[in-house]
Amino acid sequence: MFPLRRRPPTRRRILITGASSGLGAELARQYAATGADLALAARRIDRIEALAAELRAAHPQITVATAALDVTDAEAVFRVFADLDTALGGIDRVIANAGLGKGQPLGTGYHRANAETMTTNVLGVLAQAEAALELFRPRDTGHLVLVSSISAVRGMARNLTVYAASKAAVANLGEGLAADLAGTGITVTTVLPGFIRSEINAGMARVPFIVDTEPGCRALRAAIDREPRRAAVPWWPWAPLGAVLRVAPARLVAKVV
Ligand SMILES: NC(=O)c1ccc[n+]([C@@H]2O[C@H](COP(=O)([O-])OP(=O)(O)OC[C@H]3O[C@@H](n4cnc5c(N)ncnc54)[C@H](OP(=O)(O)O)[C@@H]3O)[C@@H](O)[C@H]2O)c1
Repeated sequence: MFPLRRRPPTRRRILITGASSGLGAELARQYAATGADLALAARRIDRIEALAAELRAAHPQITVATAALDVTDAEAVFRVFADLDTALGGIDRVIANAGLGKGQPLGTGYHRANAETMTTNVLGVLAQAEAALELFRPRDTGHLVLVSSISAVRGMARNLTVYAASKAAVANLGEGLAADLAGTGITVTTVLPGFIRSEINAGMARVPFIVDTEPGCRALRAAIDREPRRAAVPWWPWAPLGAVLRVAPARLVAKVV
């Protein structure tokens, strides 16, 4: 007999960081269409406010709270998460989506961009996970989603070296947190997107197997709503490709992107 899989709860109050563009903005649109209340944050507050106005007009029954937030400012992350939690009457899912892909080959004069990528993707996610779990632990409920990347499965060459290392840290953090919180009412999911069209890959020369933002985010939302510990998204081709990349010879991995 196979054990029956627990049906995940429906989350109605969702905080999304990095909601000013790309995956975060599209996830907000898709969750708003399901009737979820939203808390949206990013640095470009003009974009966040414009998106909030669009969503309130399209779905007058939902609440959309907004905040300007730089996730590299840990104090601000704790303060803004607590404020948004109050605004929505208790957040039950946090999608730590804010991320940066400014990495450049090491030793070529771009330490500032590489450090910014690491700080945003690693320390920014750490602060978001801490702030989310400070809300969830006392209630023993909530869903924390960490947005990693399929590039996390191996060390990557060229412009992806720093980015892939930062996303590996996110994936490892997510795996450890899921283990730490097993048996509690809190669920942790790490998503590893392949290429989904957004500002982050707009300037890349080669983007294999890229999908458009809307279908990519539909796959992402479906994966998040299943609440697994870890999911490559879209499943095809990234789950099998991710498994191959994990064991492929380094010289082949270096040719992928
Ligand atoms: N698209 C893909 O193919 C793909 C693949 C794998 C993983 N991902 C991950 O998916 C997430 C979303 O990226 P995207 O593809 O949607 O790219 P994007 O369009 O560039 O969006 C990135 C978002 O992160 C926010 N952000 C960046 N630095 C921030 C900071 N210091 N504080 C707060 N917000 C910050 C940006 O908002 P502001 O600039 O307004 O702050 C923006 O809303 C990222 O974590 C990315 O690494 C994307």
